[in-house]
Amino acid sequence: MRGFLLALSILFAGSARCGSDNEDLEMEQELEPLDRGPYFDVSASKNVTALVGKTAQLNCRVRNLGDRTVSWVRHRDIHLLTVGIDTYTSDQRFVASHFPRTEDWTLQVKYPQRRDSGTYECQVSTTPPIGHSMHLSVVEPVTTIVGGPEMYINRGSTMNLTCVVRHSPEPPPAIYWTHNQEEINYDSPRGGVSVITEKGEITTSYLLIQRAQPADSGGYTCHPSNANTQTVAVHVLNGEHPAAMQHGGQLRLGNPPFVMFLASMLAFLNHGH
Ligand SMILES: *[C@@H]1O[C@H](CO)[C@@H](O)[C@H](O)[C@H]1NC(C)=O
Ligand SMILES: *[C@@H]1O[C@H](CO)[C@@H](O)[C@H](O)[C@H]1NC(C)=O
Repeated sequence: MRGFLLALSILFAGSARCGSDNEDLEMEQELEPLDRGPYFDVSASKNVTALVGKTAQLNCRVRNLGDRTVSWVRHRDIHLLTVGIDTYTSDQRFVASHFPRTEDWTLQVKYPQRRDSGTYECQVSTTPPIGHSMHLSVVEPVTTIVGGPEMYINRGSTMNLTCVVRHSPEPPPAIYWTHNQEEINYDSPRGGVSVITEKGEITTSYLLIQRAQPADSGGYTCHPSNANTQTVAVHVLNGEHPAAMQHGGQLRLGNPPFVMFLASMLAFLNHGH
């Protein structure tokens, strides 16, 4: 921490000498006797969680900046990324921006990857420099379908597909489902198709299809708007493949072929004794 503050003091000592820092200071004192110099508005300069691949923005709000410069430094390797709105690194994904008449200096990280996670410091070229550190977390949401990637369901039972989205910085604004690449229509004449989505730190979407028929077999894909998609291959069985059913998670005891199968198994076991 000390090391690169020092490095920056040296960097800025040069520019301060070129300018008329002392005159400016006197002027500011005349206009604003209570001027405490530049300071950070920490309520507008916070930790950020961003998605892999989606431009991340770290904001630094500096009040009373005067004619000082705002720089961004990456702590991991004490790398000076930007000075003012100029990029100082060969990694062109780092871009600083500032809109006139605002006090915000924003560091954009384009195409962020997980390894970009870490601490970034916004520094102001006072002598000695002052800094405010923020943490960037780059996360990759994970979508799973419970019981996938293959599911076996008995004809006539309810198909309950559960899609779970974890590690999303915010709940997906929308989740939609497709069946064999076609968007599911909940008002279709087939009827009995519904979806329930519970949003939160972990977002879950349940697709319920009543009275499953062989025509309901196929690939079902869950599409969260801010996470990867996930597909499950669903096989609706006519009841003639009891061995395959053992892989499935949705066996219903009420299903006659299965009860008959169980009964014959029990008969077989009893016979053995
Ligand atoms: C920002 O993130 C860092 C590292 O995870 C943590 O130590 C710090 O408390 C966080 N600050 C705020 C204001 O949440
Ligand atoms: C669907 O399955 C999930 C578990 O994956 C369960 O929590 C939920 O209650 C089921 N919904 C219905 C309507 O059966």
